[in-house]
Amino acid sequence: MKIFNTRHGVQQYLQQQQAVGHNIGFVPTMGALHQGHLSLIKQAQQLASVVVCSIFVNPTQFNDPKDLEKYPRPIDADIEKLEHAGCDVLFNPAVNEMYAGNESWHLDIGRLEHLLEGEFRPGHYQGVMQVVNKLFTIVKPDWAFFGQKDYQQVMVINQMISRLNLPVKLVMCPIEREPNGLAMSSRNIHLTPDDRVHALVLSRALTQAKAAFKKGDDLLAIQQQATALISSEPGTLLEYFEIVNGETLLPATPDSRGIVALVAARVGNTRLIDNVIIR
Ligand code: PAJ
Repeated sequence: MKIFNTRHGVQQYLQQQQAVGHNIGFVPTMGALHQGHLSLIKQAQQLASVVVCSIFVNPTQFNDPKDLEKYPRPIDADIEKLEHAGCDVLFNPAVNEMYAGNESWHLDIGRLEHLLEGEFRPGHYQGVMQVVNKLFTIVKPDWAFFGQKDYQQVMVINQMISRLNLPVKLVMCPIEREPNGLAMSSRNIHLTPDDRVHALVLSRALTQAKAAFKKGDDLLAIQQQATALISSEPGTLLEYFEIVNGETLLPATPDSRGIVALVAARVGNTRLIDNVIIR
């Protein structure tokens, strides 16, 4: 695997690859890689002849400085995992390589930015768009791979691509879970053994919601059931459980084409999110 720390280095290498007819699949990450990230690499390998992964803990998307500080950064283990997965290129820049001091960014994508995660993490999606746009400009991928785990993030990037007319195709990949249902996340390493047990209530509530929808229960009742289930779990503080239209992320109606249930909660000191496509 080729490893680059500078924009110039990676850009130059990828331009050469494109010049000889290779197409590029791109998996942006913040590292602390797990099976979820690696499933995106695998998916990218199906479509693209050169697969690029980036590892960059992006300061502009953290609204809590403590969260940024304690974000795990096991770079040696990450490199080993990427080598093992057969990733072709790693781009691992330092902060000053990506940001030249005080720069401003804002892209209006309407209400999508302010709903759900946006309400609990103000400014988060502006920071995500800012860095992903920079990364797209450097890597110039044909395809970019994002996980359904961060469903709202996929919709936000989709809006950015469409509003800025970016020449990249977005692929959403399914959520990788542990055998007990817990959605894999870099933040799971902060969970204590007790937290790990309590955290299972999230995937349980989502699975039950999907089953209740199939059975024909109405959306409000399903939401209330899930809220009650999560609220009764010790060590768990529910932030939201919403059943929404899969495109607008506004509350779903029975005739919404796609319907997604999304949840966020604090388990112990760790904030977790999860979701399920229920139709
Ligand atoms: P990060 O949280 O590292 O996630 C990188 C990618 O891995 C995202 O597309 C995310 O949805 C996906 N992912 C995480 N857990 C997953 C799981 N259990 N199953 C499948 N995919 C999973 O998301 C970010 O980084 C950042 O916001 C980023 C896009 C890199 C911009 O900084």
